[in-house]
Amino acid sequence: MTEKRLTIDYIEYSSFEEMEPQDQELVAAALDARKGSYSPYSKFRVGAALRLVDGTIIKGANQENIAYPSGLCAERTAMFAAGANHPGVAFDTIAVVGGNGEDVCEMPAAPCGACRQVMAEYQRLYQRPLKIILIGTHSTYKFSKVEDILPLIFDSLKVE
Ligand code: THU
Repeated sequence: MTEKRLTIDYIEYSSFEEMEPQDQELVAAALDARKGSYSPYSKFRVGAALRLVDGTIIKGANQENIAYPSGLCAERTAMFAAGANHPGVAFDTIAVVGGNGEDVCEMPAAPCGACRQVMAEYQRLYQRPLKIILIGTHSTYKFSKVEDILPLIFDSLKVE
């Protein structure tokens, strides 16, 4: 038997000004994307913004439904919009922000497991690390690849 430990490296920013200009732009886009949130049931407004490698920014926001499971998270809304409208164009960074009503969470709201799995799929498809920025007003985190928020990714299908 061997005891092992997984460690995760990430950056914590205490202000948006500490971030690279491109990342600050993505943060602003994610905050703006919250305007598109349709969340009458949870009142939790989530915005996501991703950057395609050609520089285009794609936004998404959570879309709820009276039949709860029919809704979709902000991250997947953005990623599926990118996949559907810009097929074959990789994206390298996604930023996410949530909060109740007009408020933005102090500490970052973390993506759900299903969104992490979809991030893993696009990272796998495009064969390049997908960076993840989780935004809060007190702290913002940046991860350099999906493995850092989804260790031991399911990747065992022999699909090739
Ligand atoms: N939500 C997201 O948009 N992203 C996540 O990663 C977690 C949760 C949404 C789904 C639902 O509309 C609301 O937040 C409350 O769960």
